[in-house]
Amino acid sequence: MTAAEKLDLENAPSVLIVDDIATNVHVLSQALEPEGYNISVANSGEAALKLAPKIRPDIILLDVMMPGLNGFETCRKLKQMEDFKETPVVFITARSDAKDIVEGFESGGSDYITKPFKFEEVCARVNTHFKMVKLLKEREEMIKNLKEAHRKAVEATEELKATQSQLVQNEKMASLGEMVSGIGHEINNPCNFILTHSVTLNKNFRKLKEIIEGIIPNDETGVRVKKVLSPYFEKNMDSIASIKDGAERIAEIVRSLRNFARHGEGDLHDVDLNDVIKSTTKLLNHQTKHIDFKLELSELGEIECSPAQIGQVIMNLVSNAIYAANKNSQNPSVHVRTLDLGDKVAFEVQDNGGGVPDSLLQKIFNPFFTTKPVGEGTGLGLSISFKIVKEHKGEIQVHNNGEGATFRVILPRKQGFNR
Ligand SMILES: Nc1ncnc2c1ncn2[C@@H]1O[C@H](COP(=O)(O)OP(=O)(O)OP(=O)(O)O)[C@@H](O)[C@H]1O
Ligand SMILES: [Mg+2]
Repeated sequence: MTAAEKLDLENAPSVLIVDDIATNVHVLSQALEPEGYNISVANSGEAALKLAPKIRPDIILLDVMMPGLNGFETCRKLKQMEDFKETPVVFITARSDAKDIVEGFESGGSDYITKPFKFEEVCARVNTHFKMVKLLKEREEMIKNLKEAHRKAVEATEELKATQSQLVQNEKMASLGEMVSGIGHEINNPCNFILTHSVTLNKNFRKLKEIIEGIIPNDETGVRVKKVLSPYFEKNMDSIASIKDGAERIAEIVRSLRNFARHGEGDLHDVDLNDVIKSTTKLLNHQTKHIDFKLELSELGEIECSPAQIGQVIMNLVSNAIYAANKNSQNPSVHVRTLDLGDKVAFEVQDNGGGVPDSLLQKIFNPFFTTKPVGEGTGLGLSISFKIVKEHKGEIQVHNNGEGATFRVILPRKQGFNR
């Protein structure tokens, strides 16, 4: 059985013998060739350094005493080369004092055989080193496989989390959409009723005022009566106008709500991003009115996007900004601005809430990552926003602006095919 078969190596193992004396090379070859080793020879340290990278031996037998580079120097140079850091080098020499042996190991050698050597000893030692090489290779392979398995497990977990978040999101959106449409419908009817009747009330009241003013005599009593009635007329007119204003405002909020949760959320439309921002932020009116909230909207023209989804991104970013600003600033402020970037547009949400700590910048877009107290946040807002923006072939950037965080979303004007 050859050494390759014995050691179960795929190819015949190769040995590089480095010795300047031909007889030594001959004797070593005679010992190793019958075992099935592939033998290569170099007659100096310099020649070995040139030959080794070409043949990539599994083991190197190195004579110590050679003209030019001696064995120890050759070994040191070999060990500096990446390919031979793990290759066993066995010194074969007549020098056998402890100092030499130590120098041999220090120069990176793995073993030391002193001359005169026995065939059996050379074969046994070479075989042992091959076995170690093989075990090392197996260990490396195992580590590689383990790393790969770990990578796949991490990938699968991420995918699972993403799917889970998508499911939660779908469910959230579906029930939110249903609820909002239901509420919208319920509010819309009485609201229209109030609006229509406030208009009729206004008309009828003016008529009534005209009639009453018409029948009041133009004498002293009449003037007194008019004076008494006048503030009531005015107050009533004001109240009717307020009822109409309030009803119009409710109708507008309902319109925004329905716009936000409109069916066919993923449908693409040509819309003005400024309008989406205005209608979405109106839904946050109850929070924005307590802070310095500003919209700085530049002329953009229309872009192709899903207004419901982009509305959701705006909602998430502005809610986060309001939360951070309220929590960390005496004078909370949130500014939303839009920018025309030619074939792209952008919107920015800037707050003064202290910013995102550098150590968290990589994490905040992960599903379920939140620094909010338990029960306050799902940690899905940014991951969903990231996904929506990615689906729109856009990007989300975040940087700290000194006082707080600025999130910037860049969107292409057109979606093109393959969305
Ligand atoms: N404007 C901001 N300033 C500072 N930190 C922020 C800001 N926006 C997001 N973060 C950080 O990113 C985390 C994740 O945000 P994300 O919107 O995904 O979830 P959340 O706001 O915690 O929860 P939810 O959106 O469900 O209410 C936040 O908990 C917070 O730590
Ligand atoms: Mg959030």
